[in-house]
Amino acid sequence: MSNQEQTLSIIKPDAVERNLVDEIKKIFTSNNLKIKESKKIQISKEEAAEFYKVHQSKPFYEHLCSYLSSGPIVAMILEGENAILQNRKLMGATDPKKAEENTIRSLYGISIDKNSVHGSDSNENAKKEINFFFKN
Ligand code: CMP
Repeated sequence: MSNQEQTLSIIKPDAVERNLVDEIKKIFTSNNLKIKESKKIQISKEEAAEFYKVHQSKPFYEHLCSYLSSGPIVAMILEGENAILQNRKLMGATDPKKAEENTIRSLYGISIDKNSVHGSDSNENAKKEINFFFKN
């Protein structure tokens, strides 16, 4: 049965800075994910804090928000069959050192913070995160 979904992807400052946007987009589009929307923006630390609110109790929260707001990012809506899981598979584990071979984070991630991409982890969060960046 077909399960068309949308998910939110962010190319983080470390990857934008190293001009990896086109290479990362190519990984999505050559693996059955369409890029429905894409925009390059820089968000404030307050906006990053809102976006990563689910992590507010974590010791790395403050640093995470500073980092996401430290430079331009590319926010995208990806669409396709099981898009949420497919995107997570293509990204690999959060820590690039533990990410499976040929995943985006294993290819391009520098550290657990500078791990090049973010992707929604559930249907509920995908809707929230898409709305965060692409509400009209
Ligand atoms: P992301 O998928 O964007 O979701 C939250 C981010 O927190 C995660 O990727 C990591 O970049 C970052 N992070 C920093 N430290 C940790 C940690 N110890 N465990 C998990 N995520 C961390």
